[in-house]
Amino acid sequence: MPLPETFDRSLKIAPSILSADFANFGAEIRAVEAQGADWIHVDVMDGHFVPNLTFGPPLVKAIRPHISTVMDVHLMIAPVDPYIEAFADAGADIITAHLEAGAHTHRTLQAIRATGTKAGLALNPGTPVEAAAPLLDLCDLVCLMTVNPGFGGQKFIHSQVAQVRKLREMIGDRETHIEIDGGVDPTTAPLVFEAGADVLVAGSAVFRGGSVENPAPYGENIRAIRASVGVGA
Ligand code: DX5
Ligand code: ZN
Repeated sequence: MPLPETFDRSLKIAPSILSADFANFGAEIRAVEAQGADWIHVDVMDGHFVPNLTFGPPLVKAIRPHISTVMDVHLMIAPVDPYIEAFADAGADIITAHLEAGAHTHRTLQAIRATGTKAGLALNPGTPVEAAAPLLDLCDLVCLMTVNPGFGGQKFIHSQVAQVRKLREMIGDRETHIEIDGGVDPTTAPLVFEAGADVLVAGSAVFRGGSVENPAPYGENIRAIRASVGVGA
């Protein structure tokens, strides 16, 4: 399903399947969507750009029919450009590439949009948000990492909150989502939401305590994040 036609900054919770049962992605996705997920976040890692390996385009294509919300594909790979077509063909709604993954991010974002897919730009915690300024007109989403990418379950880096606030100012009226990825839970979600983020990726804080056989904790965990920012319950 493509993104809605109308842009909005309402809170969206995007569970990361990095914390799901890798032997059962289809059922995990259906369970977490039934429990209130807004988007599904798909972490692709290459063991080179980040020190961990997950999966590639065939797996992303295989899970697409199980996603009825938005498939948000976060590429932690370098190089990116040779694989854009394959992830677009796999059915991604958004493809996010890292600024740090290559010398020609401007070209990468253009290439993503040329496939008809929304383009996202991710920034590591060590990268100043100002570096995104010349690229913002090409971005449907900017993902600020609040951990160093590679693994779920890491500790939120609090110094990133000031960067979220700066980025929100830089974006101005552009219809560009601000996504936060890493260490999001009910204690950190309010900090980034208040600073201007609208898409909150959460892996361990959503999947903890639940399973396909017992999915109710997924819903409780999602509602706890929503409640922490004062949205819904
Ligand atoms: C980190 C990934 C994240 C990760 C988030 O490299 O990009 O999406 O799964 O996991 P938590 O929410 O557990 O920090
Ligand atoms: Zn991610």
